[in-house]
Amino acid sequence: MDRSAVEAVKARISIADIVRRYVDLKPVSGRWMGACPFHQETKPSMSVNDDEGFFYCFGCQASGDVIDFYSRINGLEFRESLEQLAAEAGIEIGNVPHDPHAAERKAKSALFLDMHDEANAWFQRNLSLAAGDTARRYLTDRGMTPDVIKKFGLGYSPDDWHGLNNFLKGKGRTPDQGVEAGLLSKNEKGNIYDRFRGRLIFPIQNLSGRVIAFGGRIITDGEPKYLNSSDTPIYKKGDHLYGLNLARSTMTRTKRALLTEGYMDVISLHQFGYTDSCGVLGTALTPEQVKRLAGFCSRVDLVFDGDGAGRKAALKSSRMILLQGVACKVVLMPDGEDVDSLLQATGTEGFEECMAQAPSGLDFCMTTLRNEFAPREIMAWAKSFLSDLSDASLQAYYLPRIAGGLGLSEADFRRDAGIAGGTRSAPPRPTQAAPPSPNGAQGQGGQGRQRLPAVGKEDKDDRYFLKFPIQYPDYVQALAAKGFEGILGTQWAVALWEKLVNAQHGQILSQLNEQEKSFYIRCREEVRESVLTGRELLEEWEHICKKIADGQQRLDSRQLKEALHQAQLSGDKERIDECLRAFQESRRRDDEQY
Ligand code: GTP
Ligand code: MN
Repeated sequence: MDRSAVEAVKARISIADIVRRYVDLKPVSGRWMGACPFHQETKPSMSVNDDEGFFYCFGCQASGDVIDFYSRINGLEFRESLEQLAAEAGIEIGNVPHDPHAAERKAKSALFLDMHDEANAWFQRNLSLAAGDTARRYLTDRGMTPDVIKKFGLGYSPDDWHGLNNFLKGKGRTPDQGVEAGLLSKNEKGNIYDRFRGRLIFPIQNLSGRVIAFGGRIITDGEPKYLNSSDTPIYKKGDHLYGLNLARSTMTRTKRALLTEGYMDVISLHQFGYTDSCGVLGTALTPEQVKRLAGFCSRVDLVFDGDGAGRKAALKSSRMILLQGVACKVVLMPDGEDVDSLLQATGTEGFEECMAQAPSGLDFCMTTLRNEFAPREIMAWAKSFLSDLSDASLQAYYLPRIAGGLGLSEADFRRDAGIAGGTRSAPPRPTQAAPPSPNGAQGQGGQGRQRLPAVGKEDKDDRYFLKFPIQYPDYVQALAAKGFEGILGTQWAVALWEKLVNAQHGQILSQLNEQEKSFYIRCREEVRESVLTGRELLEEWEHICKKIADGQQRLDSRQLKEALHQAQLSGDKERIDECLRAFQESRRRDDEQY
């Protein structure tokens, strides 16, 4: 990643100018406000802060910088957005010239995309010609309407070993290029032939609508039933979702994605009006796919077969979705049906019924575990779920729910899962010779301090403490000098604090991860609403300073006690006296203070 290009883009492009292309912005008491394009609303609740370079929606909490906004509204990857915005601003992206193969790779991708367009046009034409009679009848028999066939760009590959090969040759493409693009296959003898023969063709598109791969279904007897493109420079299995480019605009409105397993399932769902549907394309759901969906919606509803295999896939997939902090439901089809056959047979009514009964992803997981798993498998599942969470603060959300779902007390479950809880900071580990100096642990909160993942009260306190330096950045260095880090109880808070301390002026946003960024932006927005000044600001500052001092004192006295205990154990009289003196000294100072 070329950080300097990212900073240059942000410095040179005004976020308000970019947002204004999509949303009407009006000045409201010193800030820009507009209707949020990421959820449905009439009154404007999105604020755009041009000075600090971020947007924030009070309604749906969407937030981020100019690159985030541009990516999300255009359905682009970060990299693509960066390139486009950099091109607009006339900024060179530094690491492109350093990669000697970049130009070659780019040319190859462009060539393969063109070849996919050519192949796609050829497949579609075949479906409309006499050679496509059987395929057309097949589609009609399966209830597909001409509209939806067109929308999904379905095609047909004739049962011919050299049809596409010859067609591509006519376009000036070599057979080897066809193989590398995944359109043709090569056997051990070096013979090159059409990969898809006698198949209904489903073009797979990326988010910009370019065809990057194909799926093909056999329409006579034969194996395999479905054949997909292999990985190529423009297509990586597990990165894409079938139909996402057609579904994403609805998803941003409904805030929901219907996710299913089959090509035909996706098409039928769209045909019956569920235009927020897409498919996983014959592999297990991947974290990349979930992240992609999470950019458009906040809930993913799994529409899976109700048989054993479908339920197993639903368990794995809902786990994957929940781990990313995305909500989910599990919509299981009646025995022997998939959503395509259900919709074609009963219309939307039967499907709506299934949706009405759908449990949440977490409930589905809990019920399945309780009913079908042995106790040790259940505990292993639950522990690995907690440790695989993408974001430690989600533990706070899931801990009580999973404990409750499995009939465990939260404390037992915490302990068993190896998650610290209860006391705010763990006592220092017994050291052989802790120095009995009451001033020994200045500033940084001492050694042996175990920070917790963001859970419960610690997390809440840390959010409260961190808000102050985020809202009043002039105080960051002063707080650092006082040992602010010592009052933070969770790992994520310490990590964010370190970034605040080390941030270059105006560049903090780029260094934050998603969770940090959204917390940071929320704090910045709040301070615009109500900023403390004068007496109030001073009181808040003093309050935080007192917390820091209290924390240090508690720590000092704990260390002193530990040292005294060790001295008593070893019978070291001199040391015992030293510790007792230190105790008295610290008590005297306490008295002076209050
Ligand atoms: P139809 O029979 O056309 O309705 O397909 P289906 O989607 O109902 O089939 P199925 O439930 O058997 O498979 C679900 C999805 O898994 C398919 O849409 C494919 O994406 C994938 N799939 C099924 N069979 C194969 C196969 O033989 N090879 C590969 N690569 N993928 C398959
Ligand atoms: Mn089917």
